[in-house]
Amino acid sequence: MALLVLAACAEPPAKGPAPPALVRPPGIATPDYWRDVKPILDRRCVVCHGCYDAPCQLNLSAYEGLARGAHKKRVYDTTRLRLAEPTRLFEDATTVAQWRGKGFYPVLSEPTTSGAPPGPGVLARMLALKRQHPLPATSPLPDSFDFALDRKQQCPAESEFDDFAARFPLWGMPYGLPGLSDDEQATLAAWLADGAPYREPPPRAPAYEAQVREWERFLNEGSPKHRLMSRYLYEHLYLADLYFDDLPAGPWFRLVRSRTAPGEPIAEATSVRPGDNSPGALREKTRDVVATLGQRLGGLGAAWEQVTAMGLYTVHDLFPVLRDEVLAQAGPAALNGITWYCGQPPVQGGAIEIDLRAIRHDVHLG
Ligand code: HEC
Repeated sequence: MALLVLAACAEPPAKGPAPPALVRPPGIATPDYWRDVKPILDRRCVVCHGCYDAPCQLNLSAYEGLARGAHKKRVYDTTRLRLAEPTRLFEDATTVAQWRGKGFYPVLSEPTTSGAPPGPGVLARMLALKRQHPLPATSPLPDSFDFALDRKQQCPAESEFDDFAARFPLWGMPYGLPGLSDDEQATLAAWLADGAPYREPPPRAPAYEAQVREWERFLNEGSPKHRLMSRYLYEHLYLADLYFDDLPAGPWFRLVRSRTAPGEPIAEATSVRPGDNSPGALREKTRDVVATLGQRLGGLGAAWEQVTAMGLYTVHDLFPVLRDEVLAQAGPAALNGITWYCGQPPVQGGAIEIDLRAIRHDVHLG
């Protein structure tokens, strides 16, 4: 009888293991992001969480990536038929609120909208999970680890974490690798528990500033020749990481196009509305293509009046745009008209291609 009563009063059993907590070690001053935290992330996490292929799009190579958080969709998805909205860190959004609008959810502890006390955050829980279930010290990795490039991802938000931890107890971070050392774990635990504070990066040494200024002056010279050359340099180097080999190993640089003048804060000019083929975006793209054609003609020492044939390649209806953005700019060349090929330009993601020719005799062989 007593047993029956007990059973009736008992709490329903909790699902899965109790959520592990990452305990803040006492007696450590709040770690500094640049001095203490970033080196650990660089050493232990960035090998997987550093680029567009990062699991759950979680990019830990910069604080902005940590603050942005994670996303359920992958960037590289071979089964996707339509263009995805790009999510390039520093380019396609600049504030955390904008990233949230694009479907990113936090991995750090953040205040809840309901007013309930916030949890420790996905990142803290991933580290605690590893602590709770370390890898076997000597035997090979269990089969539950999948390292295939196209492995199915779970990417739990914090509300889904208990379920994730119950189903995949060995999948704490760093995934499939030995856990953090006691010191590394203590540093991250203290930093996360203190609210993951961040300060602006320390200023660069004056020698770097001087080099940056010199390159910016060289790349921004105004003559048509310089502008064409700078454009080509950009087209070739925009994917590269650059360094100065006459300075001590230090920061790496990227060549970016900015809407602001040298010396002012950078406002990066990203590609013209990628993936957006609304009427407004098509008008903007057409204007951009025609302006580039004008520049290229100038670079070749040619002019619109020498153009005898214009080819337009697009599957979109550009009729409303043609008069204002193409014919009006082409001036005398407009007399020859435009030939529209209703086809996709041979560039992935390209919406419009226009070519210009100066032809004396046009022989069609059939
Ligand atoms: C060997 C590669 C690898 C390393 C190294 C690694 N991770 Fe991960 N990480 C993964 C994979 C794979 C996942 C996705 C797991 C899933 O959801 O299926 C992941 C997911 C995560 C998530 C969850 C994101 C979400 O949406 O829930 C966090 C947080 C995370 N990692 C943090 C870290 C931290 C911090 C480190 C370094 C201490 C680290 N990772 C090191 C492979 C790695």
